[in-house]
Amino acid sequence: MFSINTKRPLQKETITFLNCLVEKGGPEPHEYQTFTDIVNHLKAHQVDPFREIIKDSLDENTLIGHGFVKPYGYPGDFTIIHAIYKNSFNPDPRYSNWDKFFQNQPGAQAVRNRKEYFLNYCRKLEESDRKEVNILILGCGPATDVNEFYALYPESRIRFHLIDFDQNALDFAGQQNKKINGNIQYFRINVLRFKPLKMYDLIWSAGLFDYFKEKHFIYLINKYVKYLADDGEYVIGNFSHLNPTKRLMEVLSDWYLNHRSKYDLIRMAVEAEADEDRVRVDMEELGVNLFLRINNFVNGNAVN
Ligand SMILES: C[S@@+](CC[C@H](N)C(=O)[O-])C[C@H]1O[C@@H](n2cnc3c(N)ncnc32)[C@H](O)[C@@H]1O
Repeated sequence: MFSINTKRPLQKETITFLNCLVEKGGPEPHEYQTFTDIVNHLKAHQVDPFREIIKDSLDENTLIGHGFVKPYGYPGDFTIIHAIYKNSFNPDPRYSNWDKFFQNQPGAQAVRNRKEYFLNYCRKLEESDRKEVNILILGCGPATDVNEFYALYPESRIRFHLIDFDQNALDFAGQQNKKINGNIQYFRINVLRFKPLKMYDLIWSAGLFDYFKEKHFIYLINKYVKYLADDGEYVIGNFSHLNPTKRLMEVLSDWYLNHRSKYDLIRMAVEAEADEDRVRVDMEELGVNLFLRINNFVNGNAVN
């Protein structure tokens, strides 16, 4: 008996197109859509042959390659997040088109937008008439967001507690925030184990809960919500299930997130025994990064 192999390899013109991209350091803007369509339509068995063709671009010289190689052992490390915030790219023409393509993705823009969302929230806290302001950040990474906040408000009274389990991330954060380290305390610990030292006006986490399964997500809501000061808020970022960059991240960078809907986030908050009236979901302007907000508003001194 003959068996017919229905698994079609990549088409010849696709292979030629991809080889050409590798040669010129990635797609040019007029090729973005064609390249994205190829990736979005790859069948599971075509992913490895696809990666084999572009393998010379999947090393640390490119942002997609950095994601793929994971030099710190996990995707979304502090260096790639910092690069996204700074919208930087490798100037070497053998790689720069790949980085420009990556930075052009809605997923990357949503990360930059979430920094603006955070800065805006901090600005409102800074301008509020609260006597002191304490912020806890879970999974702080490079703390580029904190750095940019202090650049805007060098005399700020906000005090930060930053948690990350990667010492490399904390070293980077400490180095770039040298001038303001008097306002920041760093904790190298898993967020699952940290014992908060005080009550916080804002507990912020972006780019972390997307990696947690529901069980841990719910546990971490329940664990930290108790440490909200009066009028405090817990804001948790999570990529939306509608993220148009999902497949590109998975195929190019082997970068998997738990994408969630607004309703998933509300349901988990309620399962964590948050009062439904205190829960809402926001998003940045692209709708790619959602923010689950759980408040402890009691004095009408809320940040909206
Ligand atoms: C994608 S980065 C986000 C950084 C930062 N929140 C931002 O948005 O700019 C996620 C960070 O969380 C840290 N992280 C991941 N799991 C963690 C855990 N269980 N406990 C503490 N830190 C963790 C990683 O080391 C990494 O620096």
